[in-house]
Amino acid sequence: MAVQIEAFYDSATGTGSYIVINRASNQALIIDPVLHFDLNSGQLSFELANQQLAFLQANHLQLKYICDTHAHADHLSAAAYLKNHTDALTVISQGIGEVQQRFSARFNKPVVEDLTQLYDVLVADGDILTLGEIEIHVLATPGHTSDSVSYYIEDNIFVGDTLFMPDIGTARCDFPGADAATLYHSIARIHALPGTTKIWLCHDYPPPGREVSLQTTVAQSREHNIHINHQISKHEFIHRRQAKDRTLGVPALLYPALQVNLWGALLPAKEDNGRRFIKIPVDCKGADCAGI
Ligand SMILES: [Fe+2]
Repeated sequence: MAVQIEAFYDSATGTGSYIVINRASNQALIIDPVLHFDLNSGQLSFELANQQLAFLQANHLQLKYICDTHAHADHLSAAAYLKNHTDALTVISQGIGEVQQRFSARFNKPVVEDLTQLYDVLVADGDILTLGEIEIHVLATPGHTSDSVSYYIEDNIFVGDTLFMPDIGTARCDFPGADAATLYHSIARIHALPGTTKIWLCHDYPPPGREVSLQTTVAQSREHNIHINHQISKHEFIHRRQAKDRTLGVPALLYPALQVNLWGALLPAKEDNGRRFIKIPVDCKGADCAGI
């Protein structure tokens, strides 16, 4: 049986999102859906998610699952929006609870102990979901975040931010809970799959002159990934990754993304004036904020 894969791309955040289809059962799942959030105006928009809903409708597909690969820090997940428009179940790693706990105080948002209030299906390494006859195998691939999972479906693996295109390399490992050594082992696990396995990426940030590309293969990644290939030792990878991370700034959508994505991809509740607000925690650099 061969799944059909439709790739969608959000150019504002460089994010790839996928519809995986089982034509035999007319069922589908979506991986890493995106809401667009304009930080300057506070405006949310739904183009990509609406395109995916229109695709499902035009192709008479029942959406069974909405899967996120991890707690995204650079875009807002459209999981709750899509769930609201379908009968689909949201899926995320059970490790999301640990990430939520880590950021709870930062946003003054309560830890939700019972994560099933926020997500329908909490997965862990080795779990198998089904789409008709097709199996979706969950592989824990932490490192970029502690909750990262990949979804392995036939000869396709959806790796979130575990890997990027070979000329870009790998994702940063400097968020709380991230770890370059852990990422090395997760990538080794992916690189141990058959060379023809298609790797589908959550992001592409192409260098000048190259078109956006969201897919590579295990063989290409093993051979050519600039950060981690068969010629680069674990020690060297960790050194390079950490050196690169020291040069990176805070992602523009870090705070909006985390305070939505870690709480079920739900927007903050309305305040008493009927409006919703995204918070930015303030730090006073090198000075005492008292009195201002
Ligand atoms: Fe990410």
